[in-house]
Amino acid sequence: MSGISMNLVTLLYLIASVCFIQALKGLSSPATARAGNAFGMTGMAIAFVTTVALIFKLQAMAAAAAAAGHGSAGGFTLVALGVVVGGGIGAVLAKKVEMTKMPELVAAMHSLIGLAAVCIAVAAVSEPQAFGIAQAGEALPFGNRIELFIGTFVGAITFSGSVIAFGKLSGKYKFRLFQGAPVNFAGQHLLNLLLALAMVGLGLVFCFDSGATPAWLPFLIMTAIAFVLGVLIIIPIGGADMPVVVSMLNSYSGWAAAGIGFSLNNAMLIIAGSLVGSSGAILSYIMCKAMNRSFFNVILGGFGGAPAEAGSGAAKEQRPVKSGSADDASFIMANAESVIIVPGYGLAVARAQHALKELVEKLTHKGVNVKYAIHPVAGRMPGHMNVLLAEAEVPYDQVFEMEDINGEFGQTDVVLILGANDVVNPAAKDPSSPIAGMPILEAYKAKSIIVNKRSMASGYAGLDNELFYQANTMMVFGDAKKVIEDMVKAVE
Ligand code: TAP
Repeated sequence: MSGISMNLVTLLYLIASVCFIQALKGLSSPATARAGNAFGMTGMAIAFVTTVALIFKLQAMAAAAAAAGHGSAGGFTLVALGVVVGGGIGAVLAKKVEMTKMPELVAAMHSLIGLAAVCIAVAAVSEPQAFGIAQAGEALPFGNRIELFIGTFVGAITFSGSVIAFGKLSGKYKFRLFQGAPVNFAGQHLLNLLLALAMVGLGLVFCFDSGATPAWLPFLIMTAIAFVLGVLIIIPIGGADMPVVVSMLNSYSGWAAAGIGFSLNNAMLIIAGSLVGSSGAILSYIMCKAMNRSFFNVILGGFGGAPAEAGSGAAKEQRPVKSGSADDASFIMANAESVIIVPGYGLAVARAQHALKELVEKLTHKGVNVKYAIHPVAGRMPGHMNVLLAEAEVPYDQVFEMEDINGEFGQTDVVLILGANDVVNPAAKDPSSPIAGMPILEAYKAKSIIVNKRSMASGYAGLDNELFYQANTMMVFGDAKKVIEDMVKAVE
């Protein structure tokens, strides 16, 4: 046998796995995120090169077997083509994508992982000898049938569910199923339950059939039902719950990859898939807590409501608000002792993070104590605000997570809210509100509140915000970048 030895493959996969674990550890804090990313890229490079070397080896073995009259050579060109085309598309997309469009890109990527798992499973059922699972004409071992069944249905649900999540997040398509509003109909949960039972039943028929020819019919119907279930599980989920859905699908895609890793006897896929699966599940749980959602309610759907106007709707009623200019706001902040800045989605849209950093430097220079307060679901993706501020090289010691800073709002002179809405909406304290119980940044407790946004339009959850009408709130209308630049000039 020529080429890389299996021991070396195992060792390199182990090193790559350690890199992935270090990557997750690093990514858990903005201060170590860059190092975490470097670990992730190193691990992926090692895993990729090792896998290509392994393919070379298997290819050489297949060629030898073909020369001896059993088996078939060919396929490496296809792998190379896949790497070049897939890698090329991935590189272009990653370079072009705007930060605010990241969640939909992630959803699209998850769908591909799910589809890949289904394709590999179908290929393995069809030609187990090519995967070293069974000899030609032999029945698939029982254990492999179970792994392939699980990998296939999880992959199929991940694929179709991610396509729907992609459509809902992009908000560009008129198709009803791609709208942010939940799609509900009578008997929905019952239908889902019956389909799930049918899927499992057919999967078991496939698993318990030990004939030399695989039980294709139950396998294919089971796969088709899983595709339909993926759609049905995601359509009743409202736009406001999409962050949880994306991380949940992230988790599913990991489990699908791990399932297929068992079938292919590939330790790397099993480890990387399990890491993605478990970290996605933990993230879903954290997000559910941050949005006060029950995980099972999100999964079962129909909870969370629609993003009524998805951030662009008009104000629902005309009520008087106090408004002022950027100059007024600067005067108040420059004369304060403490200022907390709450960044939100609008800051990211306006790409105003660099101007904001400059403003904070000017205020700090004047002796004002300035801190940033980060809500875990501010923006449109997990960690969105951390990434935004890191891009502007805001020092990490000025950035505080919600639970660490919420106690300080009551003693703070000024809160400056920039393009944030839902994450500071006191409606969350009202049990009858659709966002009831969602933890918020308690900006309403500050002595003075300055809010910058372009209009009185609602945020992502489509709700009016009582904070804007408070007696101690001043609205500064305008695009965040322009307003902050004006504030910088005024502070100077
Ligand atoms: P939102 O509630 O979406 O509010 C953003 C506000 O920014 C809007 O009210 C908008 O008002 C304003 N805005 C938009 N463009 C602006 C600009 N150029 N300059 C100034 N203001 C601008 O944002 P949030 O408080 O960050 O809350 C996030 C919401 O998104 C939550 O409901 C969360 O559940 C949801 N969500 C989060 C994620 C993740 S994972 N973070 C993913 C999907 C959804 P105007 O139109 O009046 O300017």
